[in-house]
Amino acid sequence: MQEAAIKQEIRALLRERNGVLLAHNYMRDEVQEIADITGDSLGLSIEAARTAASVIVFCGVHFMAESASILAPDKTVILPRLDAGCPMADMISVEGLLAMKERYPGAPVVTYVNSSAAVKAASDICCTSANAVRVVNSLPESELIFTPDKNLGSYVARFTGKTIHLWEGYCPTHERLRVDDVTRLKQAHPDALFICHPECNPAVVALADHVCSTSGMYDFCRQSTAQRFIIGTEAGILYRLKRENPAKEFILASPALICPNMKLTSLEDIREALTTMAPVVKVPEEIRVRAKRALDRMLAIPRD
Ligand code: 13P
Ligand code: SF4
Repeated sequence: MQEAAIKQEIRALLRERNGVLLAHNYMRDEVQEIADITGDSLGLSIEAARTAASVIVFCGVHFMAESASILAPDKTVILPRLDAGCPMADMISVEGLLAMKERYPGAPVVTYVNSSAAVKAASDICCTSANAVRVVNSLPESELIFTPDKNLGSYVARFTGKTIHLWEGYCPTHERLRVDDVTRLKQAHPDALFICHPECNPAVVALADHVCSTSGMYDFCRQSTAQRFIIGTEAGILYRLKRENPAKEFILASPALICPNMKLTSLEDIREALTTMAPVVKVPEEIRVRAKRALDRMLAIPRD
């Protein structure tokens, strides 16, 4: 079937179900194109809680659909591909976290939103790539545990005098970006700014002109007077960057910057999910309440 026809079917099903289609900034172009809202992981979950729709089709990975379920428990959250996971979120278990807490008694746990609901529930406060420094500096304690991303934790450590015990997790996609990739591109395009996500390796982050979350990249590139950007995050971000800045040039820092999980969801999967109203992601109430506490504590921190 033609792409246009599937898109029409999806729109009709969304109307019928009183549904809203949310897509992460890394989704395939055609999925972003048909979405009601695109955004970063936490921004989309906040939209899920805010929307009047009763069905949320979350095009992203599993932990994001869980966050939507935590913040919008009365809505039906559908993740079209249940197998779309996040290897970084899977690098930490509740048991592992509890063992680490025993090693550092009294140290609060700051957990990146790229984590399961159960791990959030065992944490004191969440953070995103956009507010991690603010979250860490908001805590009264001078020593803390940061999970699961050691790269984001190392980045945060540059902006705080606190002692940070890092969980050894990382994003395999961002980890593939090498210093050589960036230096070669910088030499070829000396006028370009290098922008990267803090999930990149610290040696790569050290080369960046600007470090930010996926949504932060849209703002930065729109406002910047530069004409050319080397982009150090997942390839899906290029869709909106190019559309919003047609006169500017965006160069992906490495062809390896593709997250296989983010690329799983197709238009056919979305149509199937809306037809069958499955798979549904629902966080059990006992975990949800505790995980929400960690998210709410983060959301209560004033923005700069
Ligand atoms: P953002 O929260 O910046 O959208 O990042 C999510 C993610 O999966 C990064 O790899
Ligand atoms: Fe997880 Fe990395 Fe994929 Fe984001 S890009 S979903 S952190 S594996």
